[in-house]
Amino acid sequence: MALENAGLAIGGSGASGPRRSIRLGLNIDHVATLRNARGGARPDPVRAALLAIEAGADGITAHLREDRRHIQDADLIAVKAAIDKPLNFEMAATAQMLDIALKIKPHAACLVPERRTERTTEGGLDVIGGMPTLKPFVAELGRAGVRVSLFIEPSLEAIEAAAAIGAPVVELHTGAWCYAVEMGENEKANSEFERLRLAAAHTASLGLECHAGHGLDYDTARTICALPEIVELNIGHFLIGEAIFVGLPKTIAEMRAAMDAGCAQAAD
Ligand code: PXP
Repeated sequence: MALENAGLAIGGSGASGPRRSIRLGLNIDHVATLRNARGGARPDPVRAALLAIEAGADGITAHLREDRRHIQDADLIAVKAAIDKPLNFEMAATAQMLDIALKIKPHAACLVPERRTERTTEGGLDVIGGMPTLKPFVAELGRAGVRVSLFIEPSLEAIEAAAAIGAPVVELHTGAWCYAVEMGENEKANSEFERLRLAAAHTASLGLECHAGHGLDYDTARTICALPEIVELNIGHFLIGEAIFVGLPKTIAEMRAAMDAGCAQAAD
């Protein structure tokens, strides 16, 4: 797969030197949410995936939940077959999901906590308490050639635990920060961003690849792309929501521009 272990995707190197570019993964769960509201075949998550890639997304993310509330097993298979970019499979650390991941062999798998009653993934994995449970999942997926990330809170202890169990990648949960920004809670937003900044720096010091996601919009994506350790963002709800008004290609292009502007800010 083209982006396997790619780390930073480097753009053209002009007189100002190589330009950093952060990967954008579109989470297509909410296309399936809309489809499932009627129970038919439309809107088709595969169509959304192809359109997003054509518009500049670097990969597709999908979360097969235990209750199958949005993405279905058949969606994962169809998306994997249709796209020529990486598929990132978000999954709970359960025997059933492991079985599916080993059959589908996505490019990457992101282990997430899952509670049936939650609306969305509410917090990061309990990596410290869950070390004995998570370690075999990381090892088995890794042996199958799947690049494993752990979705964690931006805490130094969680990052150290992720490194200790052999995960090559962590995805920092940006939800608390984004929510504080959205609600205009400036003090909380500043302290949450500081946690993210320190966490991202810590991942790099331990040799982990650093992704981020949850609740991001154009502004927060631009801001977080200025952190030099960030390699990939996974974004769903905001992009699918915006696409209702302006279309998916325009939304992806605008997000790409926001992310590139954040990267350029880091380089200044
Ligand atoms: N990353 C992970 C691990 C997630 O669980 C989610 C939500 O499914 C996202 C990213 C995307 O979050 P949002 O839909 O809020 O952009």
